[in-house]
Amino acid sequence: MNTHKVAVITGASQGIGAALTAAYQDLGYAVVANSRSIPDASTDTLETVAGDIGDPAVARRIVDVAVERFGRVDTLINNAGIFVAKPFTEYTPEDYDAVKRTNVDGFFHISQAVIEQLLKQDQGGHVVSVTTTLLENASSSVPSALASLSKGGIAAATKSLAIEYAGRGIRVNAVSPGIIRTPMHAPETHEFLAALQPVGSLGEVADVVRGVIYLEQSPFVTGEFLHVDGGQSAGH
Ligand SMILES: NC(=O)c1ccc[n+]([C@@H]2O[C@H](COP(=O)([O-])OP(=O)(O)OC[C@H]3O[C@@H](n4cnc5c(N)ncnc54)[C@H](OP(=O)(O)O)[C@@H]3O)[C@@H](O)[C@H]2O)c1
Repeated sequence: MNTHKVAVITGASQGIGAALTAAYQDLGYAVVANSRSIPDASTDTLETVAGDIGDPAVARRIVDVAVERFGRVDTLINNAGIFVAKPFTEYTPEDYDAVKRTNVDGFFHISQAVIEQLLKQDQGGHVVSVTTTLLENASSSVPSALASLSKGGIAAATKSLAIEYAGRGIRVNAVSPGIIRTPMHAPETHEFLAALQPVGSLGEVADVVRGVIYLEQSPFVTGEFLHVDGGQSAGH
């Protein structure tokens, strides 16, 4: 008999997603972890599904694996994301396609497949997406309109889905990080990036994990953007 709650976590091979995968297992969840290059793993509390989250067939496979292996889905964490920072006119069609595929398609297909499953189970559930404070507080030092375009869509959809499914017990939230020390940022950029944050330092992966766990454990919170951003959303 299945005794675990089950979380699906995308972008789980490194950085924030890898830490969330460990944290949810520590909380007693079984996790289905996805990224393109994630190594095969199959334990009592972990199953990996490698593939591009922008592909609807991968999204479907993740939910099928969760149900076959662990019997259900309770939480989805939309964490997979890429960041391409450039002056707007220098973005190429390839940049646009890549950001759209991972950040937007990668949100849409898996959210739809998981919410379908949550509705079938009829016991509520939780969707958390990782956005960025840059979409509310743009910085002239880090031009990144494609991040705002893609993550801004996720932020808007978070509120929309929170309201659409509030009556079915499905909560939909987002965590909005500032600049976090992960493999996304080359070490030589850390000093420059830390100086951009009001607190003068980078956030750590553990800061974002605490934010997600707070949302997970807060049944009265939905449609929320929780800022974990060293004060960036408050101003400069
Ligand atoms: N670090 C920051 O400063 C920061 C700030 C704001 C928001 N965020 C957001 O936080 C999330 C995690 O970022 P991070 O810093 O942990 O990034 P990261 O270290 O670059 O990790 C990104 C993860 O996403 C996976 N991924 C990328 N494209 C994918 C795709 N098409 N399909 C499936 N998986 C894919 C990568 O694995 P594979 O290469 O194996 O696919 C990797 O596991 C992202 O959404 C990012 O936008 C980060």
